[in-house]
Amino acid sequence: MTDQPALFAATPPRDPVRCPRCGWRGEARELARIAAMRSKSRLLDLFCGGGGCTKGYQMAGFWVRGVDLKPQPRYVGEEFVQADALEYLAGLIQSGEIAEFDAIHASPPCQGYSISRNNGCHKDAPRMIDDTRNLLARSRLPFVIENVENAPLLDMPMFGIYVINLCGASFGLKTGQFDLARHRLFESNVVLSALPCTHQRGQTIGVYGNGTNAWHRRKFGRCVTVNEMREAMGIDWMARKELSQAIPPAYTKFIGEQLARHIRAAEGRDLAQTEDEWGACEACPACGEETIMEGR
Ligand SMILES: C[S@@+](CC[C@H](N)C(=O)[O-])C[C@H]1O[C@@H](n2cnc3c(N)ncnc32)[C@H](O)[C@@H]1O
Ligand SMILES: [Zn+2]
Ligand SMILES: [Zn+2]
Repeated sequence: MTDQPALFAATPPRDPVRCPRCGWRGEARELARIAAMRSKSRLLDLFCGGGGCTKGYQMAGFWVRGVDLKPQPRYVGEEFVQADALEYLAGLIQSGEIAEFDAIHASPPCQGYSISRNNGCHKDAPRMIDDTRNLLARSRLPFVIENVENAPLLDMPMFGIYVINLCGASFGLKTGQFDLARHRLFESNVVLSALPCTHQRGQTIGVYGNGTNAWHRRKFGRCVTVNEMREAMGIDWMARKELSQAIPPAYTKFIGEQLARHIRAAEGRDLAQTEDEWGACEACPACGEETIMEGR
């Protein structure tokens, strides 16, 4: 036995703890939950849909609040707000609440920019990228805007804005021998490293909302199933409609890990920071003060 104080993390989750400042009594697990939330960077996912992007950011360690105009019963993030994304963001900037976040992602609807626009399918679809970018710049936070290959995203390194293009095959996404191509552009005010496209020409699976097209039917010899789409996307919780609009989580995990490094560097924190450093003092759920809890 040594005289060392008990290690912070060694207190079993149900053990009683007490705040010496306000007298609050509770269980160690309540403190663990608060510590986990506070230690995570927080990301706002605008136009979140069912949360394909959200999931990748969570895998990269972010706590995520999603915003979408439509209800999203299968949304995977920690919090969901049903609202117009740009009005909601403008409100957070106005009130100063945006400071609660460390980064913002936005996937404005792509129909106004996708190739099908040219054949008249989506000629009235909204084009929201410029308004989105203007608001994101006002937030002064690291941001990412995602869209389809033809969208007018800005690659202007001279002005600190960069674009990368990601391909599903670079992350090993596929079903059977069919690669997921699903190229998507990501504009950011943070320098992001890219990956080269690696999909096999003529051997790809597309994930669309309105049935299997003739090209895929010929290639597969039948219709593509929802399960094959889920497998190719790395998404198991969405129905077909959400899937058809989603981004594979692998893309935003890759981006999120880079954002997280950027955020830590900007905060002057080092990757080598250990849990013990911030773990000694804990926030009291009642009075909110940082203190050393009795019972630890
Ligand atoms: C391309 S999807 C997003 C997919 C999502 N990033 C994912 O990976 O699952 C675009 C979403 O924007 C939503 N949307 C369209 N207009 C909106 C608006 N004005 N405010 C908020 N959401 C909106 C749609 O309901 C749709 O879910
Ligand atoms: Zn590709
Ligand atoms: Zn207290």
